[in-house]
Amino acid sequence: MHAPAPATPDQDPTLAALLAARPHLAMHAHDGLVMEGVALNAVADALGTPCWVYGAGTLRRRLDSLTAALGGLARVHYAVKANDHLALLHLLGGAGAGADVVSGGELARALAAGIPPGRIVFSGVGKTADELRAALAAGIAQINVESAAELDQISAVAAAAGRVAPVALRINPDIDAGTHAKITTGLAHNKFGIPYADAAALYADAAARPGLLPVGLALHIGSQILSVAPYRAAFARAAALVRDLRAAGQLVTRLDCGGGLGIGYRDEAGAAPAAFAGALRSAFTGLDLELMVEPGRWLVGPAGLLLATVLLTKGGQGMPPFVVLDAAMTELMRPALYDAWHGIVPLDPARAAGPAVPVDVVGPVCESADTFARARPLPPLLAGDRVAILDAGAYGAVMSSTYNARPLAPAALIDGARWAPIRRRQTVAELWRDESVPTFMG
Ligand code: LLP
Repeated sequence: MHAPAPATPDQDPTLAALLAARPHLAMHAHDGLVMEGVALNAVADALGTPCWVYGAGTLRRRLDSLTAALGGLARVHYAVKANDHLALLHLLGGAGAGADVVSGGELARALAAGIPPGRIVFSGVGKTADELRAALAAGIAQINVESAAELDQISAVAAAAGRVAPVALRINPDIDAGTHAKITTGLAHNKFGIPYADAAALYADAAARPGLLPVGLALHIGSQILSVAPYRAAFARAAALVRDLRAAGQLVTRLDCGGGLGIGYRDEAGAAPAAFAGALRSAFTGLDLELMVEPGRWLVGPAGLLLATVLLTKGGQGMPPFVVLDAAMTELMRPALYDAWHGIVPLDPARAAGPAVPVDVVGPVCESADTFARARPLPPLLAGDRVAILDAGAYGAVMSSTYNARPLAPAALIDGARWAPIRRRQTVAELWRDESVPTFMG
């Protein structure tokens, strides 16, 4: 859906191309980099850096366009793990999205944000008895089950609580999603799901157990998927299994098709919702199924960025110099963990217009992996300059840590011409607030 200026595979897109592909961002001659019309310098002046900024307009627009492409074919259950901030959940839930949660904490967040329990599904490869009890007490729509052992566990918890748990069996379709090995989930050797060959027997088994009501199937083949082909393959396997189960007399009413829709971080085209909807339509038309999807990244990724300030520059003898930011892998871990590429744009228009030379952009944390970009062509940056690290709305703040005793960063939400802080910076004293030194230590 992005239309950046052409770049060869080994050539990074220019700053102009990055901005052209992101209509919510623009470089103003006076205000510098703006997001949805709000000057990012104003947010950084007020909250300091590092700091997360999210755009409500972008979030709404993305949910609307996905919903429109789906055209009533499937209900959207936002994958809360991508960004669990209450304000974002409130916005997405208010605009009609349900939630896909993977822990008692995410369930509590979704409920606290006002998402109705009937629009919540609970996924994940391991759930505690307490989490299951909370899900049953809330009356959520369904629990996605990933093993025979989990069926035993849910049956016991539900029967003890005098409840019936609506469950969907998450199958592992053994499909290569063509994404990074650390975020692929639908291959036989991944820990996720029930082996395809075992699913029919387990479905019958579930139907016979107390406290369980099998309602259908679920699958999720991976994340940051840019091609529709793996979806088509996985959906075909799911449709075949639905037919087999029904032929065996089982009731199958729902199919949760998971998330995974990728976005354009560099110059690649993001997943196209229309093509995804087409794959759903061609696999499931005529099967009379309630379809669900669980997108996370596609909805929130492009709607967020991380603001940082250059602390200093160093080196450069025969190698790209280092630009050391005040943001680190403690805020945005994706480059360290997956070698992920994120656009980096100076906030100052004069700076952004300078000639680009390759630099290594790093954070101050004591790990060589604390590197945002290697040999990235950027205009010369000086201490005190601010930059925005793009497309950080998904799997950014949620994956933060306080390693090196770094407090969690604040966040702001832009909505129209207004913006508001939606999280204050954690204080240093809060880092050890819950720690104690045993009295026997004197
Ligand atoms: N449903 C299930 C069961 C999932 O496990 C996930 C993501 C999603 C939905 C949402 O996937 P999405 O639409 O966001 O791709 N931290 C990694 C991504 C991990 C994804 C884990 N599961 C990253 O930063 O790339």
